[in-house]
Amino acid sequence: MKFETLSIHAGQRPDPSSGAVMTPIYQTSTYLQDGVGRHRGYEYSRTGNPTRAALEGCLAALEGAAFGLAFASGMAATDAVLRLLSPGDHVLAGNDVYGGTYRLFERVLRPYGLDFTYVDASDLAQATAALRPDTRLVWLETPTNPLLGVCDIAALADLAHVHPGRPLVVVDNTFATPYLQRPMELGADLVVHSTTKYLGGHSDVVGGAVVGKDMDLQARLAFLQNAVGAVPGPMDCFLVLRGVKTLALRMERHAANAATLADRLAGHPSVARLMYPYHPSHPQQALARRQMRNGGGMISMVLKGREPAARRVAETTRLFALAESLGGVESLIEVPAAMTHASTMNSPIAVDPGLVRLSVGLEHVDDLWEDLEQALRGV
Ligand SMILES: Cc1ncc(COP(=O)(O)O)c(C=O)c1O
Repeated sequence: MKFETLSIHAGQRPDPSSGAVMTPIYQTSTYLQDGVGRHRGYEYSRTGNPTRAALEGCLAALEGAAFGLAFASGMAATDAVLRLLSPGDHVLAGNDVYGGTYRLFERVLRPYGLDFTYVDASDLAQATAALRPDTRLVWLETPTNPLLGVCDIAALADLAHVHPGRPLVVVDNTFATPYLQRPMELGADLVVHSTTKYLGGHSDVVGGAVVGKDMDLQARLAFLQNAVGAVPGPMDCFLVLRGVKTLALRMERHAANAATLADRLAGHPSVARLMYPYHPSHPQQALARRQMRNGGGMISMVLKGREPAARRVAETTRLFALAESLGGVESLIEVPAAMTHASTMNSPIAVDPGLVRLSVGLEHVDDLWEDLEQALRGV
């Protein structure tokens, strides 16, 4: 079945007890057993819950994967994947990643014994040179947060898979979503999501997910999901499941609005540099057009007036709300260096304080442009 059909039906079926067409929110922590140890598929909701199972099945289908596992947040999903490694192992990561991912790597997992090297993942020579015999995992974000860099998933997966250590290739597909980009088809071993973003789509839930094909990895990750216990509740799973039903429609409009705004911003006298994967000025535009169905809904830009201008614009938009996060129906604006990426301050991957990030929502594009224009006029 096609993506739009899967997003509405995969993993779901009318509730067998009532016929409810929409997956019920199974708000229960435990399940009746017919005899000691004889249950009907569910025994305790940390281990499994029918609403969660529906979401996991749906996300697996959308990514072309064999299994899905839902977590309490994108960070919990990332943490579960990194727990597949052992102290002493090396991770190669892109040098532009979500600030919370960098914080988890550097402040939680490095002290625990993992080693991390950050490279410009769009530069294959640089990535190849940084692979080590003890590299067990390659962590890719594409497009990256917040610079919207694009790396070649297929080329990097090919490189990693012939490397002696056979590192796992993991792609954080949060910005693109499976509607735009399907990393499993390009050779990734695992795909991670913050379902808080486009998959949920309405800024009303925090969640995460991991999907993959290898059932040995499924067993190890499902063990971690249950043993560590960073699971989402049934209401949260329901919200993501509902959001996903309109993902294709939403991503089309997010991208149409963002492409129009990117064109207009690129020619604006206050903008020094614009970052949008499908824009002709983007260094990996050709790769983005090959790898992604459209340019997505995120735009970043550096303003000529640097940090003061960035802060002023972010504080003077009226429709774009000044807030962290992204991927909801409403437009958001933020200054990553001071907000989502504050944890990278003074690090080798610190973000330009003059950078502004936009999550372009589904409002009418003329209203969005009018809002940006009036805010930019102030600088
Ligand atoms: C690309 C990316 N990955 C992961 C995360 C973490 O997700 P969560 O906030 O759901 O823990 C975020 C959050 O902003 C993100 O932007």
